[in-house]
Amino acid sequence: MTTPPADAPASLLFTPLKLRSLTLNNRVVVSPMCMYSAQNGMANDFHLTHLGQFALGGAGLILTEATAVSPEGRISPEDLGLWTDEQIVPLGHITDFVHRHGSLIGVQLAHAGRKASTYAPWRGRGQVAPEAGGWGVIGPGGERFHETYPVPTAMTGDDIRRVVADFAAAARRALVAGFDAVELHAAHGYLLHQFLSPLSNTRTDEYGGSFENRTRLLLEVVRAVRSAWPMHLPLFVRVSATDWADGGWDLDQTVGLASRLRYEGVDVLDVSSGGLTTAQRITPGPLYQVPFAARVRAEVPDLLTMAVGMIETPQQAEGILQNGDADLVALGRPFLRDPHWPQRAAHALGAALPLPDMYARAGW
Ligand SMILES: Cc1cc2nc3c(=O)[nH]c(=O)nc-3n(C[C@H](O)[C@H](O)[C@H](O)COP(=O)(O)O)c2cc1C
Repeated sequence: MTTPPADAPASLLFTPLKLRSLTLNNRVVVSPMCMYSAQNGMANDFHLTHLGQFALGGAGLILTEATAVSPEGRISPEDLGLWTDEQIVPLGHITDFVHRHGSLIGVQLAHAGRKASTYAPWRGRGQVAPEAGGWGVIGPGGERFHETYPVPTAMTGDDIRRVVADFAAAARRALVAGFDAVELHAAHGYLLHQFLSPLSNTRTDEYGGSFENRTRLLLEVVRAVRSAWPMHLPLFVRVSATDWADGGWDLDQTVGLASRLRYEGVDVLDVSSGGLTTAQRITPGPLYQVPFAARVRAEVPDLLTMAVGMIETPQQAEGILQNGDADLVALGRPFLRDPHWPQRAAHALGAALPLPDMYARAGW
């Protein structure tokens, strides 16, 4: 374990954070990442090894990949799911392992809407046809994401009520599986984001048109999940702060939504961007999404924010917290490159992060 020099500024990244009844050992979060490696939505040895390694690496909180609340809500046939009780047991092994090694774990609950029934990236994305195991997809309207994607069926009132109930049922299963947190995936052009954005939501009923109407489905899902998910455990929502496209969802609307989410008992807004339309124009670069988290944090008191996106170095992550731009920092690809990123970061920042007993002789 590293002992920081007496005059070193305390690392905020490695300062514990209380979230309802939980205490995160540090503010480094593993961002949700689809692995396209489940069968029938069931976690297996791959998921245990993959997620387990981040606990050994010292992450404060690990978020699972997008985990489907219904079979039709899967992005690909190989997504994780929590739509039946059978799926609880293998996820329970993972949460047990993570807890035994001092970390916490949340599940990202998701419905892909019109972006469902597609191939994993390394199989070429695009539609999985019904004869190849694909399925009929639903969305706010009948317009598809791209010509290589399935044409959705516009959701009926019954479809909407079923989706809300599916999210709540999946949250109840997540509790039984031992998860510490739930994150609702309302970003990257998936179903909840499809309702938020005027570019994908062309409905003329009470779920389309005005800001109030486009945010209605997400707020209904939040309410249903918040009542299924215990009050002593935190609820995260991931949003795309902007569609990066004219006439789309934008940062002003994100701020408006954030204040309502806080009122509904959401604890953390995980601030990502994009994914809704092929018309998006993004120039990604280091920390490019951080200003979105910073604005929400500045304008919505009491709602914590999580910054994500091209945050690579320990100094960048620490700087985000020191500047007051976010409360938590999520990393995706850096964790794929180095599952022990928090250990390396603690060393670089002169902070103390205990190694697992079994690894103690590695020292630093
Ligand atoms: C392989 C991979 C899979 C991803 N799957 C998801 C996902 O399931 N849910 C989600 O919200 N974001 C997903 N993302 C986005 C990441 O969570 C993260 O926001 C993005 O990679 C930017 O962070 P980074 O620059 O630290 O990688 C994925 C990213 C990668 C690289």
